[in-house]
Amino acid sequence: MISVGIIGGSGYTGKKLIRFCAAHPFIEEYKIYGNNSAGGKICDIFPELNEVIENSVIESIENVSYEHDAYFIALPHGEALNYVPALFERGKKIIDLGGDYRLNSPELYSKWYGKKHNSPLLLKEKIYGLADYSGTDYSEKNFVANPGCYPTAVLLSLLPVVKSFKDKILSVSVAAYSGTSGAGKTPKLELLMSEMDGDVSAYKLNSHQHQPEILQQLNEAGFDSPFSFAAHLLPAAVGIYATSFIHLKSSVEEKELKNAFEEFYKDSPFIRLREAPPHLNWVTGTNFCDINFSMKDKIIIITSAIDNLIKGAGGQAMQNMNKLFGWDEKSGILNQGVKNVQIY
Ligand SMILES: NC(=O)c1ccc[n+]([C@@H]2O[C@H](COP(=O)([O-])OP(=O)(O)OC[C@H]3O[C@@H](n4cnc5c(N)ncnc54)[C@H](OP(=O)(O)O)[C@@H]3O)[C@@H](O)[C@H]2O)c1
Repeated sequence: MISVGIIGGSGYTGKKLIRFCAAHPFIEEYKIYGNNSAGGKICDIFPELNEVIENSVIESIENVSYEHDAYFIALPHGEALNYVPALFERGKKIIDLGGDYRLNSPELYSKWYGKKHNSPLLLKEKIYGLADYSGTDYSEKNFVANPGCYPTAVLLSLLPVVKSFKDKILSVSVAAYSGTSGAGKTPKLELLMSEMDGDVSAYKLNSHQHQPEILQQLNEAGFDSPFSFAAHLLPAAVGIYATSFIHLKSSVEEKELKNAFEEFYKDSPFIRLREAPPHLNWVTGTNFCDINFSMKDKIIIITSAIDNLIKGAGGQAMQNMNKLFGWDEKSGILNQGVKNVQIY
């Protein structure tokens, strides 16, 4: 049994982590650390957690205890740099949900996050934790950079094709859509219901920090062709929907494509290959990623849907913790023994 610290547990992704920690068979206790909310009770911020975590006081992120065995860090960009080096040095297991350690190069980090990295050597020590990709070795590792929400939906769509057909790919472009909770709980004028309702727009074209993250992981898998990514804001609170277009130099058989996806995800309990394009409603509130692919002539279109706060953040983070400790990756997330039933 272990003890867990959730640094930034009073935010949106923290709320999901609390539920998974409460349901986990091997987590004995967990403490929540917050910034402005420190000193208050978690149930006053999230009354819906009343039955899950009664009377728990939020500790200050200025006094994080080193007593815990493992830590989730769910802070705004730049803030994890204040915690990871000291925790890593003490041999703690760490899962960072933010973007501070996802890119491998400190120069790229400065370019896309506008800040100098204070612990560039740790960029090499981390695992990029795309938890449903079975090719990552978690043994002997302590530190996971949890992927961003867009990269999770996009990489889970693209990697099976890149792995099997990289030499045939001419180009890849992605249009992806996010609900407003992707921006966290800090109020912003443009995210008000009265601004968003009935509206859709693209944003951060060619300047979204998830673009180099996706490309880095595609390159690592052998992809070496033009790539474009356009993020859009949806008038919904939760969800990521990604549509990817892969243009090929020469066609592949439909059966080969199906085999590529089925083989890639044969041991992945949270991936559901669908016969039709998924809907966001099929995955919100769950840790599933639903994927559909379709091919005509030399173009493959892949659609994928996830809950940004769960598969794109807290659920995948819990999967990563399970993998770091060598536990069943479904622990705390799915009702054990009951197929496809989420803990809550
Ligand atoms: N939202 C998503 O869909 C999503 C998906 C993937 C990854 N992520 C990443 O996960 C991290 C957390 O996201 P979130 O959506 O949970 O954010 P959030 O709802 O805004 O919560 C942020 C948490 O960090 C604390 N905090 C806020 N400002 C801080 C500061 N200046 N210094 C220290 N602590 C501060 C907050 O404490 P108080 O509330 O007590 O002030 C809260 O606990 C971010 O790096 C985000 O990019 C988010």
